[in-house]
Amino acid sequence: MRFLITAGPTREPIDPVRYLSNRSSGKMGYALAEAALGRGHEVVLISGPVNIPAPDGATVVRVETAQEMYDAVAERIGEAEVAIFCAAVADYRVAEVAGEKIKKTGETLTLTLIKNPDILGSARSVFGFTGLLIGFAAETEKLAEHATGKLLRKGCDLLVANDVSRSDIAFDRDENEVELFYRDGRHETLARASKREIAEGLVERVEELG
Ligand code: CTP
Repeated sequence: MRFLITAGPTREPIDPVRYLSNRSSGKMGYALAEAALGRGHEVVLISGPVNIPAPDGATVVRVETAQEMYDAVAERIGEAEVAIFCAAVADYRVAEVAGEKIKKTGETLTLTLIKNPDILGSARSVFGFTGLLIGFAAETEKLAEHATGKLLRKGCDLLVANDVSRSDIAFDRDENEVELFYRDGRHETLARASKREIAEGLVERVEELG
């Protein structure tokens, strides 16, 4: 199958030397790309800035901002049969990016942020994607409630939820443990394992759904 995978964080510029971002390392998305390639699938990997080499055989599109990731997905999703949105996209960006470096003149500094486009949320409604849609959710509380809400709201077939309040898994770790919520109401746990093993488990389940 042809996979499109988003991975890593996005960077939202504040001025020429500063940006807003998050702790995503990209490891989960890159592990998914490796697992899919290893099982004979084609992969387009749309990646925010990370320190991981490109997986052999993947087509990698590098982006910085959420808007650039949105544009790259819009351009490529039509060719995909499976779309996995693993990136930790910044929900907001700075309303007016300063053209020059901001000087520390005041005691406080207020930045106005405006909402970024929801890429996963646009897959069905804007891009008209009809393939298998898999979303991720990073939650610190009420995991099942928030995850199933996202699954339905964004039109996913499968939602992969991480409990990011745990320091032993998820963000910037080599291991993960995820809860899977399916559109048909099924729920399953993939017990703590390396991100590569979790990725293999996810790709297997995607194959079963396809
Ligand atoms: N996502 C995306 N584009 C965004 C934000 C999120 O594609 N601008 C995708 C992520 O890649 C992930 C899922 O949506 O697959 C995570 O959604 P999240 O931001 O956690 O969900 P929201 O519904 O925006 O809820 P929250 O209020 O928790 O941010």
